[in-house]
Amino acid sequence: MKNQIEQLKHAKNAVILAHYYAPAEVQEVADYVGDSFYLAKVAKQSSADIIVFCGVGFMGESAKILNPNKKVLMPDPYADCPMAHMVADGIIEEMRSRYNDLAVVCYINSTAELKCKSDVCVTSSNAVKIVRALPNKNIFFIPDKNLGSFVAKQVPEKNIILNDGCCPIHARVTAAQILEQRSLHPEALVLTHPECEAEVLALSDYIGSTADIISYANESTADEFIICTEEGVDFKLITDNPHKRFYYPNPHPCCADMKLNTLEALLSVLEKEDKEITVDEKTREGALLPLERMLELAK
Ligand code: 13P
Ligand code: SF4
Repeated sequence: MKNQIEQLKHAKNAVILAHYYAPAEVQEVADYVGDSFYLAKVAKQSSADIIVFCGVGFMGESAKILNPNKKVLMPDPYADCPMAHMVADGIIEEMRSRYNDLAVVCYINSTAELKCKSDVCVTSSNAVKIVRALPNKNIFFIPDKNLGSFVAKQVPEKNIILNDGCCPIHARVTAAQILEQRSLHPEALVLTHPECEAEVLALSDYIGSTADIISYANESTADEFIICTEEGVDFKLITDNPHKRFYYPNPHPCCADMKLNTLEALLSVLEKEDKEITVDEKTREGALLPLERMLELAK
């Protein structure tokens, strides 16, 4: 299958992008593997005719918004991030009516419709930098309350209003699970994604995006790490650091949607070009503005 994927990719001038949470064998055949921010930048700069995005819905959608003239395919269009929808109807409008200077800051893990109603997008790797750079005092941070509260602690000069959404995978990690891993591996450093709950962040030695966690582990002189994010990052961590040890909360955090990106599904979509991502032009134009503002402010 890997050989067939290689051949089809070259024949069709396609590029394969995969998130660190995609299955290991898919990360192996991908041209670019990274966190959400890196993949959005790669999608924007790509000269391929076809982008195959092995991730979840909002990632494929963002690639299409940034590249209206390219064919964007996903191995499984049902791979969706549940958090992307977790904003109640009417709440953005209500917040805008309450605060004159409100900036709606939208985590990229969101639907295109929510992006349309927002002032700027962020990812977990640039949220602090972008919120700090905004002129607005009042910020409505959607949809993730955990990333929002992490940002609020780093940027105390802003009034950050949280929304009641979260990643079910990261929110399931508990402080007790971290303490259990720590008692088993007392030398290990705890590296955590900011989508985890505050009680887990409080036990962590480092908090960052998937790419930041991997860079931290690569550069650290420590040999053991407790990784509080989705287990897909393990492939890159052990590839880069074969002599280091990586442990996970028990049960391992696993995003079933990301795992829909199988090698079989990737081969099939490259062959048939049938699972194309489409975004209507009005929505695309509306969602493009906050995405481009993010790319600008994060520079
Ligand atoms: P990153 O920004 O680290 O890629 O995280 C994306 C994500 O979906 C985390 O659950
Ligand atoms: Fe969404 Fe969580 Fe899966 Fe990331 S891990 S794609 S935030 S459900």
